[in-house]
Amino acid sequence: MKTLVIGSGGREHAIAQKLKQSKHVTHLDVIPGNDAMTAIATIHPEIAENDHEAILNFAKTNEIDWVIIGPEQPLTEGLTDLLSESEISVFGPNKAAAQIEGSKAFAKALMEKYQIPTADYREIDSKTEALKYVQDCELPIVLKKDGLAAGKGVIIAQTRQEALDAVDTLYPNENEKVVFETFLEGEEFSVMTFVNGSYAVPFETIAQDHKRAFDQDKGPNTGGMGAYCPVPHIGEDVLRQTNERIAQPIAHALEKEGYDYFGILYIGAILTKEGPKVIEFNARFGDPEAQVLLTRLESDLMEHILELKEKQPISQQWKQDAVVGVMLASKGYPAAYDKGSLVSGFETDLEHYFVSGLKRDANQSFVTSGGRVILAIGEGDSIEAAQKKAYERVTKIESDGLFYRKDIANKALKS
Ligand code: AMP
Ligand code: GLY
Repeated sequence: MKTLVIGSGGREHAIAQKLKQSKHVTHLDVIPGNDAMTAIATIHPEIAENDHEAILNFAKTNEIDWVIIGPEQPLTEGLTDLLSESEISVFGPNKAAAQIEGSKAFAKALMEKYQIPTADYREIDSKTEALKYVQDCELPIVLKKDGLAAGKGVIIAQTRQEALDAVDTLYPNENEKVVFETFLEGEEFSVMTFVNGSYAVPFETIAQDHKRAFDQDKGPNTGGMGAYCPVPHIGEDVLRQTNERIAQPIAHALEKEGYDYFGILYIGAILTKEGPKVIEFNARFGDPEAQVLLTRLESDLMEHILELKEKQPISQQWKQDAVVGVMLASKGYPAAYDKGSLVSGFETDLEHYFVSGLKRDANQSFVTSGGRVILAIGEGDSIEAAQKKAYERVTKIESDGLFYRKDIANKALKS
């Protein structure tokens, strides 16, 4: 089977690595890919991820059987729709269904209609009204910009003044779409779910991301600074509740409303006193959750995609080992950062690193080209052992331009 992955980050690096091991995959291309993927796939840096026509042409010319779309942008911009019109099989929802990630207002309205547990909310479309609302709303209050924001469009205001400032930030114009929601207390976790219409099968392993930039969950929100799996202190009962109260109902809701969802649905949940509640849905694998989950997945990802297509049982097998991934990011990220810093020390051990933001310079050395740069992976028979291994691999990396959190997976050790 000729398979094409779309994307250039660490998530796509992990998807490509996993597909490479599949008994079904005979040839693997990545558009655009990155320079660290060349040992596992043919990369195509000359084709842009948002050049849908060029991707379609490539897929037709090369008789691609399956396209696996990694990032949210091509999904919300309709790449699946375009490829499907030419009878190319695509793993990743179409434009209408991807609104579940692309529009916070859409996702909230759907959850409200189908009574899927989430924070109470209201959508406010004018700055004047928003300023009035935050004068006497309960605090903390969570403000979410509608539309894609790479994990950075959310402000949690603790004080009245922060709430007023947040309104200023999220309403550059009088009319903007912003969701205001109640602050939920509890631990966050991520559940990837295979979805085909109303058929939904969650991954049997939960992962936990670390969204804030600095240790002890301080600093601004990022795309994710590290992840691990399994999450031993968030037990099987929570996964079962997440499936019954969130995964199954949202798949039914999408189908009932006429959306044709096929792909991964990412459930970002928070474990409150009343059980799991939805923080966000994404229309694709999490990054860096995919890197740790696909490292731990023993069974064949492509086989699971084919099983999902036929709505057959998805017989997941997971390794015993725990997996921890620590992200090294450019100093300054998620705000402005410099590019072009030399990074070395990992090249001979690439199977334990997933690369998001590196490219080769004229001397063939790796230099930074993005905010999140490289994820160091550790495996071990306990979270502690996997964490130790991951940090050993972090220290092998030499660079002046990077920073990382020192407490990835600590939540699993405390309990
Ligand atoms: P989102 O982009 O919706 O996932 O939000 C980014 C991050 O903000 C989440 O991972 C949470 O850490 C935090 N967050 C979002 N909504 C809430 C909420 N209602 N209560 C508490 N924290 C939240
Ligand atoms: N790690 C969070 C996300 O992929 O959205």
